Amino acid sequence: MVFPVLSAAAKRLAGKVAIITGGASGIGESTAKLFTQHGAKVVIADIQHDLGQSICKELGPSATFIQCDVTKEEDVKNVVDYTMSQYGKLDIMHNNAGIGGPPTPNIIETTLSGFEEVMKVNLIGSFLGTKHAARVMIPAKQGSIITTSSTCSIIGGGATYAYTVSKHGVVGLMKNAAVELGNYGIRVNCIAPHLISTPMTRSFLNMKDEDFSQFYSNMKGERCKVEDVAQTALFLASDDSKFISGHNLVVDGGFTIMNPGFCIYDYTK
Ligand SMILES: NC(=O)c1ccc[n+]([C@@H]2O[C@H](COP(=O)([O-])OP(=O)(O)OC[C@H]3O[C@@H](n4cnc5c(N)ncnc54)[C@H](O)[C@@H]3O)[C@@H](O)[C@H]2O)c1
Repeated sequence: MVFPVLSAAAKRLAGKVAIITGGASGIGESTAKLFTQHGAKVVIADIQHDLGQSICKELGPSATFIQCDVTKEEDVKNVVDYTMSQYGKLDIMHNNAGIGGPPTPNIIETTLSGFEEVMKVNLIGSFLGTKHAARVMIPAKQGSIITTSSTCSIIGGGATYAYTVSKHGVVGLMKNAAVELGNYGIRVNCIAPHLISTPMTRSFLNMKDEDFSQFYSNMKGERCKVEDVAQTALFLASDDSKFISGHNLVVDGGFTIMNPGFCIYDYTK
C-alpha cells in the first residue's frame, strides 16, 4: 500500500529520527514507509541487504539502510552510533526484527538450538536494541522505544514454544525498561499484532497469502494488515502518545478477548 502525500502540518514525526530493525520486509517495511511519509528520517537495520537498499531507493534521502544482525551487539551498537553521527539524535527505536524459527509445535521435538535461535533474534535482539537506544536517549532525556511483540505474548498455543516464550519475554523487557527509563522521559511500549500474511508467517506456516483468510479476528471480514501495525507504531512513536508507557498494545481486531468456545449470544442476528 502507498501512503498518501501529507501536508507539512499533517506530519506527525517531523524532525524525528528513527531506527527500525527488520525494516526490509513486512511490518518493518510498512512502518519505514509511514514514518518517512510523516517526516521522519529512518534508518533501516536488517540482514537483507538488497531488499533494504531497494526500499531506501524508493523512499529517497529520508531513508538509509545499514546491514545489522540484531543478535550481534557490535552490529546494534554500530547502527545506533551511525544514526547519532548522521543525525545527532535518536528519537524512536523500533525493535521489530523477528523470526518464526523451526515450526515444531510440541515440546519434546523442540531442539535447544532451534529454541536458542528464536530467543537470539526475538528476545536478545530486542534487549540489545533497547539497551543501545537507551544509551543515547538517556542523555537526551527523551525517546520512544517500541518492540513488536505478538498476540502470542498474551496467549498460549498460538505458535511454537520458542516464539511464544520470546514474545512473552519482550513484554517483560519492555516493562522493566519502561520503569527505569521513565525517569529520563523515555517511553517504552510493545505492539502485539495478530496474524498477518508476511514472508515470516508464509514460510513459518508454509502457506500462501490467500490461505490466511481462514484466520479470523472479531472484526467481521477483516484481517490484520501490516499497515494496521505501522499506524500503531506511528501513534506510539509520535507525541500523540506522550503519556503512554509500559503498554503492550494489542492490534488484533478483538481476537484475544474472544472465546468462541464460550459465546452465549449470537450477535450476527
Ligand atoms: N506477521 C505476523 O503475523 C506477526 C504477528 C505478530 C508479531 N509479528 C512480529 O513482527 C515482526 C516483523 O515480522 P514480519 O511479520 O513483518 O516478518 P518479515 O519476515 O516480513 O520481516 C522480518 C524482518 O526481520 C529481519 N530479520 C530477521 N532476523 C534478523 C536479524 N538477526 N537481524 C536483523 N534483522 C533480522 C528479516 O530480514 C525481515 O526483514 C517480528 O518481530 C514478528 O515476530 C509478526
